[in-house]
Amino acid sequence: MSAGPDRPRSTPEAPIELRLLPDGAAVGVDGRLAIAGVDVGELCERYGTPLFVYDEQHLRRRCREAVAAWGEGVAYASKAFLCRAMARLAAEEGMAVDVSTGGELHVALSAGVPGSRLVLHGNNKSEAELSRALQVGVARIVVDSFDEIDRLERIVADLGVRPEVLLRVTPGIEAHTHEYVRTGQDDSKFGFGLASGAAAAAGARLQTASGRLHLVGLHTHIGSQIFEPAFFARALEVLAPLLSGLGLAELCLGGGLGVGYVCGEPTPSIASWAVSVRRAALDAGLPPSLRLTAEPGRSIVAAAAVTCYTVGTVKEIPGVRTYLSVDGGMSDNPRPVLYGSGYEAFAALDAAAERPFVATVVGKHCESGDVVVRDARLPSSIAVGDVLITPVTGAYGHSMASNYNKVPRPPVVFVADGRTRLVVRGETLDDLIAHDVEEDWS
Ligand code: LLP
Repeated sequence: MSAGPDRPRSTPEAPIELRLLPDGAAVGVDGRLAIAGVDVGELCERYGTPLFVYDEQHLRRRCREAVAAWGEGVAYASKAFLCRAMARLAAEEGMAVDVSTGGELHVALSAGVPGSRLVLHGNNKSEAELSRALQVGVARIVVDSFDEIDRLERIVADLGVRPEVLLRVTPGIEAHTHEYVRTGQDDSKFGFGLASGAAAAAGARLQTASGRLHLVGLHTHIGSQIFEPAFFARALEVLAPLLSGLGLAELCLGGGLGVGYVCGEPTPSIASWAVSVRRAALDAGLPPSLRLTAEPGRSIVAAAAVTCYTVGTVKEIPGVRTYLSVDGGMSDNPRPVLYGSGYEAFAALDAAAERPFVATVVGKHCESGDVVVRDARLPSSIAVGDVLITPVTGAYGHSMASNYNKVPRPPVVFVADGRTRLVVRGETLDDLIAHDVEEDWS
């Protein structure tokens, strides 16, 4: 295997930067992409396309990096990508797992992750979700509203337990990221506002009321895809007085570390994120003994995976643009439609090729917004039947996939040391009708 096109290249027609691919990716002298020693073209022949391919060692390395950087209590935000194999992997590597619904809780538990390694989130947790979480003894419940405190107090009285809880605070910070993934501002459905006094009131209530809930710390999550350390520093600064006022010794800063999706975009390391946050905590006057934790999702899984598609049609509209249609689209990656997110594309069998050809890669769904990569740079040889790859699709792709237009969700494979394992099978046509019933009128 040759080293491949790994030097930073700034011209738009440059080959894909290896930096955007999973750690184990390499391009052979024949131009074919392999991940962890597994030929991606062969994987597509075996499992079909679309296909999600995850580099297992990349995932494990990022989990270990998170544990080394943040220490005990750092949780993998499972909403980024969850299946049983992923939950088990994160736990094996020493991470706790953050779940935000009863469904995520169920998947993590069924993967064998013990309750003591789970953190429960959610701005509208049901009684059933809270009860199950308490019964399995989750490590932390992140309390999000006064209604939830009422609900929790009733349930813990019935169950006779005293859970450790964090108070979710919205610190009034507008991080520079897409408004749909911004969560720290005052106008938010999440948590207790700092500016309104709700956070202080909730803290006081938890400390003085029934005593059935054990408030151990604060939680905040200011948003996702954040590159600027100053936003995290600002969150610490504004939360510090409340934390010390309540005499609390724990602070979870949520997730949100940005990841590069396109050539030239940086990817800050999890380690450097933790270092800058720790420094900011000291600057904010917080004690070195503070249990400072985080919940990275995207930065663990995004670059670990690629999505493989097959090109089905090429439509050139002279003087306008060329559309290249693939066999997936917004059902396996809704991010371009939802947030206008950019991606790169390249050919699996010609992965080191220059990409002078510009085309818009679209999916097979019945709407014009179904774009995978707008104005993608591609090799000029790209043609119907070729496998096209979009990298950095490991986060919020499979987890936000849908069956729109009754397109079955793709399979997920993990590759490691020249071997492959299927961890989520692809949906079948029968899966698409498995929930339909023909009940009589009653
Ligand atoms: N903790 C909490 C409480 C969160 O709400 C989130 C993400 C995370 C941690 C993990 O954040 P991360 O490290 O992955 O940025 N679907 C959107 C992202 C939504 C993020 C929601 N919360 C996207 O595709 O960009």
